[in-house]
Amino acid sequence: MSLSGKRILIGIGGGIAVYRVAELARLLKKSGAQVRCVMTKSAREFVSPLTFEALTGETVHTELFDLTSEREMGHIQLARWADAVIIAPATANLIARFAHGIADDLLSTIMQVCDKPVLLAPAMNSSMWDSAATQHNITTLEQRGLYVVGPEAGELACGESGSGRLSEPRTIMAAMLPLLEIQDLKGQRWVINAGPTAEAWDGVRLLTNRASGKLGVLLADLAVIRGAAVTLIAGPGTPATHPAIQRIDVESAAQMLTACKSAAAEADLFIATAAVSDFRFEQPHQGKLKRNDTAGMSVKMVANPDIVAEIAAMEHRPKRVIAFAAEATDHITHARIKLAKKGVDAIVANDIANMGSDRASGWWVTETEAVAINSDSKHDFARSIINHILES
Ligand SMILES: Cc1cc2nc3c(=O)[nH]c(=O)nc-3n(C[C@H](O)[C@H](O)[C@H](O)COP(=O)(O)O)c2cc1C
Repeated sequence: MSLSGKRILIGIGGGIAVYRVAELARLLKKSGAQVRCVMTKSAREFVSPLTFEALTGETVHTELFDLTSEREMGHIQLARWADAVIIAPATANLIARFAHGIADDLLSTIMQVCDKPVLLAPAMNSSMWDSAATQHNITTLEQRGLYVVGPEAGELACGESGSGRLSEPRTIMAAMLPLLEIQDLKGQRWVINAGPTAEAWDGVRLLTNRASGKLGVLLADLAVIRGAAVTLIAGPGTPATHPAIQRIDVESAAQMLTACKSAAAEADLFIATAAVSDFRFEQPHQGKLKRNDTAGMSVKMVANPDIVAEIAAMEHRPKRVIAFAAEATDHITHARIKLAKKGVDAIVANDIANMGSDRASGWWVTETEAVAINSDSKHDFARSIINHILES
């Protein structure tokens, strides 16, 4: 993997795992990245800055009140210089200080200024990690959009075992890669719906479909990593999402419509990936129907609202509305019909065979173009869709 041209700032805290961060710095440098390190006072109790200077070929920064670098506002320059920041080991103390906005040394002051993606690699005794304070602080930071890798479970330096080991340097590197995505969606507000919907027949039975919600989640995750503020309206069973995504879980099409409309009123873009049930039961039963209750029963269905068409028809609609269409044949023809009927700006047409699977291919269809998207994975498919959105 080449990180040529990428600039990584490593913020090094005062934990016993500092020596393993030296290997991380070496790997990043070997991959072609320019690596600069900031060490806290405690970190320097464990390992000398010389180790990191020798490995990175760069001066290690340690002081906030440094007359030479602060003439040029060094803490601000370092924050602006980096494409991404890794904090390793992220000690309990650093995590607490970041969560509370304390800026009393070089690293914590950089973190107050930093608007780049930050990856925390925590390492500490397992009781320290499990403590209510650390868990609260880490959740706060995740909700603010910072990323976390690890800690891993295993034998700890203190002799105890449990969750608290610093992740392997290669694992930290792999977790950092997506953060180097360009921040080209900063300032945009996206609303995405995903997953199936489920319509109640009685108190326990549902009409639903095979949609997995994976593509919607991938789009939402990528958009948030690229800087957008994202709201995901998620149907039942939709996989976990990035903590910085505002996620609203719903069950029925009616609930999804309400949530989508209220979120879309403030959005720049709405993407409808959800497989919304076209029908619902006209009169769902209260409680659980028994086998005998169903003798001679006929079930009356009524049409559900067309969510994406309703969003496209809103008075203050998002600037762009993108729909998905799963078809069995004549994908482009059907997509063009839907484009006009629903009043949307683009349709991603895909094959019903892809539903619920990890396969991904389709067509980007607008009034003027129909481009095939052939991807190796749903992840690449999601990335291509975002690129088409940005280019169109
Ligand atoms: C030998 C030793 C090992 C330590 N290891 C850790 C550790 O792995 N994780 C941690 O959060 N704190 C650890 N600490 C405590 C931190 O050094 C201490 O909280 C310090 O204030 C953290 O400084 P920082 O904010 O610069 O990271 C250790 C302390 C000692 C003396």
